[in-house]
Amino acid sequence: MLFLEPREHVAFDLSSLLSGGAGLSRQLRWLALAAHLDGEVEVDAAQRELLGRLSPGDWIEASALGTADAAALAQLLEAGLVLCDAADANPQRLVYRERDERLRSGHWFAPAAMLHRLARWQGLDAVAAMDANELHTAADLRRKLGAPPAPVLERCPAEQRIALPRTDGNEFDALLARRSTCRNFDAVRTLPQALFAHMLQRVFAAQALVKVEDDTVFLKKHTPSGGGLHATEAYLIVQRVDGVEPGLYHYHAIDHALEPLPAPQAPLHEFALRALAGQHWFADAPAMAVLTPRYARSFWKYRQHAKAYRALVLDSGHLSQTLYLSATELGLGAFVTSAINEVDIEQAFGLDALAEGPLAICGFGWRGERMTNTEFDPAGAVWGAGASPGR
Ligand SMILES: Cc1cc2nc3c(=O)[nH]c(=O)nc-3n(C[C@H](O)[C@H](O)[C@H](O)COP(=O)(O)O)c2cc1C
Repeated sequence: MLFLEPREHVAFDLSSLLSGGAGLSRQLRWLALAAHLDGEVEVDAAQRELLGRLSPGDWIEASALGTADAAALAQLLEAGLVLCDAADANPQRLVYRERDERLRSGHWFAPAAMLHRLARWQGLDAVAAMDANELHTAADLRRKLGAPPAPVLERCPAEQRIALPRTDGNEFDALLARRSTCRNFDAVRTLPQALFAHMLQRVFAAQALVKVEDDTVFLKKHTPSGGGLHATEAYLIVQRVDGVEPGLYHYHAIDHALEPLPAPQAPLHEFALRALAGQHWFADAPAMAVLTPRYARSFWKYRQHAKAYRALVLDSGHLSQTLYLSATELGLGAFVTSAINEVDIEQAFGLDALAEGPLAICGFGWRGERMTNTEFDPAGAVWGAGASPGR
C-alpha cells in the first residue's frame, strides 16, 4: 500500500520580495506514504518510476532489473518501499516485510490504513500547542480565525418553517440535559468498586451471546455496533478505584472481568497525562477507557471495505455517548477526547497499531467541588446558574 504525494513547501523569501516577486519560495517534493513505515520518505524521479514498474504481488529477481535501476533499487530497499525475501544482513528489511504482510492480510481499505497510520501522535503536548497559538477561549478562536460558519443551517425563509411542539420532557430528558463534559475531576476521591464495575457493565459488557458455531460468536451490548461485530476493546487506565490496584488493564466483555497488564514505564499519572496529549483537565479521572478497535474483527466481514474504518470511528462515538449518559445517571462526570498520543498508548499496552490502534479515550469519576477548568454548562445544569472557572 503506497501513496505518492507531490507536496509543495512554501516559505517566506526576502530575495524574491526584493526583486519584485511574491516574497515566497516554493519547493516541490515527492513523498512516498506507506502504512507499514514509521514515516514518510522523499523519493526522486528514478525511484518513483521504478516503484511504478514493480508489481506488489509478483516477486522478481533483483538482477532482472539491470544495472540502470541498481541505485534506485538499493535506496528503495533501504527505505522499506521495496521489499525483499532474501535472508539479508539488514534485519530492518525483515521488519518492513513482516509489517507489510500483516497489513495486506489484515484486509485494510488502503486509504483508511493510510489515514489511521498518519493521524497517530507520539509525545505531542496539545496544551502547549494551544498555549503557543493563544487559542484557549471561544473569543481567542474568533479573534484568530474570524467568524465560524453559522451555528444553524437555514434552508428556507423563517415564515416557511413548520414549527414543532416542545415538551417539558421526563427524567430521561433531564438526564440528557445534565450530560456535560467534565474537566474538573476530584483529584483525591476514589471511585467505589461497585460504581466502577457498574459503569463497565453498562458500557462495555456483553449483555447476551449468540453462538453461530463454537468459533463464531456475536455479542449483544447496550450500544449499537457496525455489522454487530463489537470490535472495539476497552483498555483501562485505573488510577483510583477502591479495591483495584492502580495500573493498566484490559476489560473482558464476556466475563465482566479485568485482565491486569504490565505497568507503563512512566508513573501511572504521568503516563495518563501523556496519553491525553497533556490535557491535564482530564488526567485526574479515576478511571479511563482507551477505545481500541480490533481491526481484524471488523475487516473479517468488511474486507478492503470503503466504509469499515468509518463504521469503527462511529462505534467509538456511540460507546462514548453511552459512557457519558451512564456516568451522568450515576452522578459521575465523564469525558471523551480524540486528541491522544496513540503511539505512546500502543507502546504501553503492547498494541500493534494496524491490528489494535486506539481512537479515543473516555474517562469517568467524581466531579471536583470547584470549576477550575472551563466546562460548557450555559444552562447551569451541572454547576448552577452563572458558574464560571474559579467558582
Ligand atoms: C469526538 C470528540 C472529541 C473531543 N475531544 C476533546 C478534547 O480533545 N479535549 C476536550 O477538552 N474536550 C473534547 N471533547 C469534548 C467537547 O469539547 C465537548 O463535547 C463540547 O465542548 C461540548 O460540551 P459538552 O460535551 O459539555 O456539551 C470532545 C468531544 C468529542 C465528541
